[in-house]
Formats: sequence, C-alpha cells, structure tokens
Amino acid sequence: TAEPGHAARLLVWYDQNARVLPWRARPGTAADPYRVWLSEIMLQQTTVKTVGPYFAKFLARWPDVAALAAAPREEVLQMWAGLGYYSRARNLHACALAVVRDHGGAFPDDEAGLRQLPGIGPYTAAAIAAIAFGRHCMPVDGNIERVVTRLFAVEQPLPQAKPQVQEQALMLAGEGRAGDSAQAMMDLGATLCTPKKPSCVLCPLQPDCAACRRGDPETFPRKAPK
Ligand code: ADE
Ligand code: SF4
Repeated sequence: TAEPGHAARLLVWYDQNARVLPWRARPGTAADPYRVWLSEIMLQQTTVKTVGPYFAKFLARWPDVAALAAAPREEVLQMWAGLGYYSRARNLHACALAVVRDHGGAFPDDEAGLRQLPGIGPYTAAAIAAIAFGRHCMPVDGNIERVVTRLFAVEQPLPQAKPQVQEQALMLAGEGRAGDSAQAMMDLGATLCTPKKPSCVLCPLQPDCAACRRGDPETFPRKAPK
C-alpha cells in the first residue's frame, strides 16, 4: 500500500519535470478555473499537442466564462471545428451559460457541484476540483490506471479493478497539492510510464514500484481473458 513517500517523491519530480503546457498556471500562481475547465473539456478526447492552439484561440476570443456564455452558439461550434466530438462544443457553451445563470459566473468549487454541469463527467470533475480548487481528488483515466496498476502490481484486470485503482490513485495525491499530483500522474503516464518500454530508471516511483521490481511492467494493466 502507499505511504506518504510516493506522493512526496512524485511532487519533487513534478517540480523539476512538469511539462510546460499553455493551460497550466505558472508555479506559485493561482489557477484560473475557467482555463482549467476549458482545457479539460478540450483534452477529453484530443491530444495535448492538438489542443494547444485551440486553447489559445478560445482564450483570446473569450477570455472568461461570461464572454463565452455571451457568444453565439454557432460561433463557438465554428471555432471548435477540427477538434471533433461536437457534443463537447455544445456542452461547453451550455456549461458556460449555466455557470453564469445559476452560479453567478463562478464555477462550483467541488466535485459534486461540477458534476451537475453539462459536459463534466467523473474524470473532468475530479481534474477541475483538484487543479482549480485544490480539492483532494484524483482524476483517473487510462494513463493513470496504467501507472497505478504497475506501481501496485494489480493482478485483477480492468474494469473489475477500477474501484480499487481509484482508491490507490487517490493515495498519490499530496497533502494540499492534489492538482499538482494529478498533473504529475498525467505527465508520468505520458512521458515515462508509457504502454511500451516504460523508462523506469528515470521514474520517481521506481523505488516502490512492484511491477518494475518484478521486471514485467508492460504486462500491467492485466487484460481480462477473452
Ligand atoms: N489530460 C487531461 N488533463 C490534462 C492536463 N491538465 N495536463 C495534461 N494532460 C491532460
Ligand atoms: Fe511505471 Fe516503471 Fe515508474 Fe513503475 S517504475 S511507475 S512501471 S515507469
């Protein structure tokens, strides 16, 4: 099981190795919930690389949630062209309208409140709650499942292991720095703990990683027999 060491080492690594991404606040500055939300919606089904220019374009056109809410829906859909999954663009606009109309222009600051909004599912709610509001949450997607199932050598295949993996992932959230911990896990999954040939020698979790110790990290997560 996890001990505080995991979470602490992960954050030390993140402080030195975080990817510089347009939606991340500079270290020591407060996160803007609007930027966090906008980026998380765009990142739901689109890669970091593709999202970059779209994020910049949206932010230049609509610098805050009130501006986006006031925009004609057609224009929002046009600006979204190329990102795919247009229901996301419709939900984006509906969400901006709801935040302005029902919340006085301020995003709800916890997972449960965020979940009530259009286009925000469990992963996105946890990501925004942690990154924008410092809530003790951990968004778990396929990348983070891979890191966690390796770290703890989880023998049970997904999806049955999901509830357990969610719990184990939350243990990696650092005290008071859950947003950085979440983004550290995202970066670790994207850069070191890759599906093929993970770079365990560079990994901050390597001293505790059960799969690495066994020598077969690529075999996690386990697959259900067909
Ligand atoms: N994927 C989803 N959210 C992300 C974030 N905040 N940073 C990098 N990749 C992500
Ligand atoms: Fe992944 Fe290797 Fe790090 Fe374990 S030590 S979490 S397998 S990169």
